[in-house]
Amino acid sequence: MTDNTRTSSDIFNNEDSNTTANPHIDQIMSARLNRRGLLLGGMGAAATSLFGAGALTGCATASTGTGAAAAMSAPLNTLGFTAVAKSLADKVVVPAGYNVQIIYALGDPLKAGTAAFKNDGNDTDWDNRSGDHHDGMEYFGLDANGRPSANGTTRALLAINHEATTDEKLTSFFIHANGGTATLPRPASEVDKELAIHGLSVVEVAAQAGQWNYKPASNYNRRVTAMTEVLISGPAKGSEHLVTKFSPDATRARGTLNNCGTGKTPWGTFVSGEENWFGYFSRDAKDDDRRGKKDKAVAGLVRYGRPAGTASRHGWESAGAEDKYVRWNNSALGANAKADYRNEMNTFGYVVEMDAYDGSQPVRKRTGLGRFAHESVSFAKAVAGQPIVAYMGDDARNEYMYKFVSAAKWDAADANANNRIAVGDKYLDKGTLFVASFKDDGTGTWIELSMNNPIVAANPDFEFKSDADVAIFTRLAADAVSATKMDRPEWGGINPRTGEFYMTLTNNSNRTVDGDASLDSANPRFYSDMKGSKENKGNVHGHIIRVAQGNPADTAFKWDIYLFASEADADKSKVNLSNLTDENDMSSPDGLVFSDVTGLCWIQTDDNAYTDKTNCMMLAAIPGKVGDGGKKTLSYKRADGSEKRVDTYMGKAQSPDILKRFLVGPVECEITGLCETPDGKAMFINIQHPGEGSKMADIGNPAKYTSQWPANAGYGAGNRPRSATIVITKKDGGVIGS
Ligand code: FEO
Ligand code: CA
Ligand code: CA
Ligand code: CA
Repeated sequence: MTDNTRTSSDIFNNEDSNTTANPHIDQIMSARLNRRGLLLGGMGAAATSLFGAGALTGCATASTGTGAAAAMSAPLNTLGFTAVAKSLADKVVVPAGYNVQIIYALGDPLKAGTAAFKNDGNDTDWDNRSGDHHDGMEYFGLDANGRPSANGTTRALLAINHEATTDEKLTSFFIHANGGTATLPRPASEVDKELAIHGLSVVEVAAQAGQWNYKPASNYNRRVTAMTEVLISGPAKGSEHLVTKFSPDATRARGTLNNCGTGKTPWGTFVSGEENWFGYFSRDAKDDDRRGKKDKAVAGLVRYGRPAGTASRHGWESAGAEDKYVRWNNSALGANAKADYRNEMNTFGYVVEMDAYDGSQPVRKRTGLGRFAHESVSFAKAVAGQPIVAYMGDDARNEYMYKFVSAAKWDAADANANNRIAVGDKYLDKGTLFVASFKDDGTGTWIELSMNNPIVAANPDFEFKSDADVAIFTRLAADAVSATKMDRPEWGGINPRTGEFYMTLTNNSNRTVDGDASLDSANPRFYSDMKGSKENKGNVHGHIIRVAQGNPADTAFKWDIYLFASEADADKSKVNLSNLTDENDMSSPDGLVFSDVTGLCWIQTDDNAYTDKTNCMMLAAIPGKVGDGGKKTLSYKRADGSEKRVDTYMGKAQSPDILKRFLVGPVECEITGLCETPDGKAMFINIQHPGEGSKMADIGNPAKYTSQWPANAGYGAGNRPRSATIVITKKDGGVIGS
């Protein structure tokens, strides 16, 4: 969800725990940084080799295995559809000539013996049903015989994140008959359902005569929930900070939570980012005193949004004495860490890897990619003999952008390995994490976060002793090296035409002209926007930044702002800098996926600022490249009346020829997740939380639900709104967007 809050889910998506006074780009080269010969050496070397070095990608050759990216087989240089208008209708709107089918929604059965979904709050067997709040999603092809095949276009597995649930005052009200119990203690019977609707699902889908359906009895169907046993992998495995009563040797954990964006590895596995997991834990008011003020875990808990005396989002810890409930209380209640769940929260906040094809393999928490509010993971094209590089963002206000560079060099044979999780072990468990620092001259640096580059935390009680500490307390490490505070990093994507990395910065209500989160070149807008009679300030609509590197593993980069999101009628000199029009104006870009088939950039919104005029949407774009626009200087007035000038670098102005609205969703949904068949002729996306502003008090009165989608489109029983996967096809059988 976006800022400008409406529901309780918003609260957990708008965290700002970054109270560090990290300098912004006008001050970025701190004295401390300058002392680091290592960093300066790295930058100097890169500066001589990088800029203008166009060693960027061609496209990988198509593979008959499961991993390698398909070649860009149908690159599009025009957008062959008519833009859809902004819409407040409770339905999915697409251009003329396109079909939409709803294929897989909250509660749909995943086992032959599971009853059809009644959608009245009395459904059972939730471990064998679709979870809630469909989010990121990836496509894993199958051949006609159901064997893994990257080229499969009519049969496949979809691996899907189930991020959260539509809630009000603790309860996930649409899955309980009368809306559930909104006070503590929560009944165990309700909590058991809520534990099961979070996590991941794998579901088989197939097309017959152009009609797609999911297969309710496929042996591939799988759920991973908040209770599923998973393995800790990478540098944090065995750390004292991950010791729990469940796993005294810190090698195992239970569940994955708040899974938001996704990625697909070059070896054909699914990765998923754990985003707002901290909200699920409680700490009692005395916990700091009990642990002792010098316990560095306390600094970690505060930096990750859990100071002592914090209540949990759903009150799961209140449901009884059983371990599965107690674990959500993160207080130090036992004699030591092996006797309680004081470290349970440290087992969340990672990228998890799952082999969608192999349900016998436990999910791995890939701790080497750091611990924060992970969104998506964008893998640069794998090149033989070069490291694997993955770009990531920390989605909270004023958090950072990160990059992981593997220690192992890519062996192309690994694209077709049978044991895909073992390949993940090889590339994701050993490597180096970097955090982005953007400079006001249009360049930037990836700063290494490791024990090779000694990190001195601002808090004197917090000493980094190992790479495990860096993996677990990543935000504190990044704070210590003058990383740039961003306007909420969401999804990233790699442009297959150029190799450039794009990242959405969805919005930031805490961006200010001056102070700790003051404007800088990479986050250069502060303005006012009216939603009805309500004024919102900050960077209300967000922007999309992009990064060019000669070699993805380099530490130096060039950047510009590809797109400033805006309402079309906003001031073109300060707000609507990208010249958006009615055909392509938008707010709060979140999902961003490049098509490997067409090269189009698909942008999805999760907005609550422009929703007086339109529901959330998806747009198609043909972007250029870093540097195709120019420098722009913005002028602001400080509180003391003096002028603050901010130089920024922007991409070329937009027009409907190269950026056009393709889809608008039903009421109060977010558009998210995108994957497609390898021929580009079927595109799957997710409609998350339609009707999320409905009131629990109206549970018996469907006419008062703010949305009745997808039931009002003929899908499924009941009237309660449901998150769902849809598939889009072109009536003439062509490539989507052509
Ligand atoms: Fe789950 Fe950052 O959106
Ligand atoms: Ca979001
Ligand atoms: Ca407005
Ligand atoms: Ca998101």
